[in-house]
Amino acid sequence: MKTYSIAVIPGDGVGKEVIPEGLRVLRRAGEVTGSFELRTVDYPWSCEWYLEHGEMMPKDGIDRLRDCDAIYLGAVGFPGVPDHISLWGLLLPIRKEFDQYVNLRPVQLLDGIPGPLAGRTAADIDMTFIRENTEGEYVGMGGRFKQGMPDESAIQVSLFTRKGVERVARYAFELAQKRRRRLASATKSNALNYTAVMWDEIVGEVARDYPDVELTTFHVDALSARMVTAPDTLDVIVASNLFGDILTDLGGALQGSMGLPAGANLNPERRYPSMFEPIHGSAPRRAGQGTANPMATVWAGAMMLEHLGESEAADLVMRALRQLALSGPRTKDLGGEARTVEMGNAIAAAIGARASKTK
Ligand code: IPM
Ligand code: MN
Repeated sequence: MKTYSIAVIPGDGVGKEVIPEGLRVLRRAGEVTGSFELRTVDYPWSCEWYLEHGEMMPKDGIDRLRDCDAIYLGAVGFPGVPDHISLWGLLLPIRKEFDQYVNLRPVQLLDGIPGPLAGRTAADIDMTFIRENTEGEYVGMGGRFKQGMPDESAIQVSLFTRKGVERVARYAFELAQKRRRRLASATKSNALNYTAVMWDEIVGEVARDYPDVELTTFHVDALSARMVTAPDTLDVIVASNLFGDILTDLGGALQGSMGLPAGANLNPERRYPSMFEPIHGSAPRRAGQGTANPMATVWAGAMMLEHLGESEAADLVMRALRQLALSGPRTKDLGGEARTVEMGNAIAAAIGARASKTK
């Protein structure tokens, strides 16, 4: 039996409510398969922590996470701390410092969940986004000038590197080879005449190594429309940091609720730990009610197990999640009345039940 050390950062708002349910489900998968245990270390880094300590995490925070096998994160951000302070103090530094350059986000409509697109079913909506996660529009370079004065100005730089574009493109092509061998690249090279033009050139060069994958380049505005009008034509999509951010919230909406989509922040070379999180935020207005949907966090947990090499357990978790999507119970976001804890228990129970049936 293996033991994985997992750094747990529940963070803020509903993050603190969904993470325990995710852990409950993952632990159950470990018991049922008998193949692993999770040794978790909780880190209370959050906006609350900021208000007490004046920083989102301690100075050596990154170093403390360095040796874990994976990071399981809830959500970051809460009223009282400006979002750009909280995110640049915790989530974004982890993505950058651990070179988690692939942000992998599956967009799948689950059977049984009504999506918002008329006439579209689970068979039509099954894409995977590969979002560049360390540079581009999120490089964090720029400055403000003459703040508060009438001629105030601000500059926010986008920085794209050949290495950064090439490695994320390569990852996307390799994933496309394992799926339906179709890759869409999000660009905006008609207007962004430097960064997006270089993006297109590099993606085009990488494409030569993957002749079996059909590459189509879409301007990001047209691609967002296509996600709604012809989602069945999309398989793997590679996008820059900001484009990927926006498209994956649209993707979440196509899944029927932001309570469902999950993401993996991967360092594919495994030089540093990878991080797994629901895509939704801390939902301050809903926090404290015990009604948040833990399904996205459970899904992120399944991705974490897959990354750790526990494919059997990951499959069990995903099967339980799919089963619950069909049978209910459901949380408020999906029109039901189940509470967060009930939902977590139900998914964990579905794992148990399935395993005893197959034994
Ligand atoms: C996400 C979030 C973050 C992002 C925010 C909270 C900085 O929206 O993970 O998609 O933009 O990356
Ligand atoms: Mn986002």
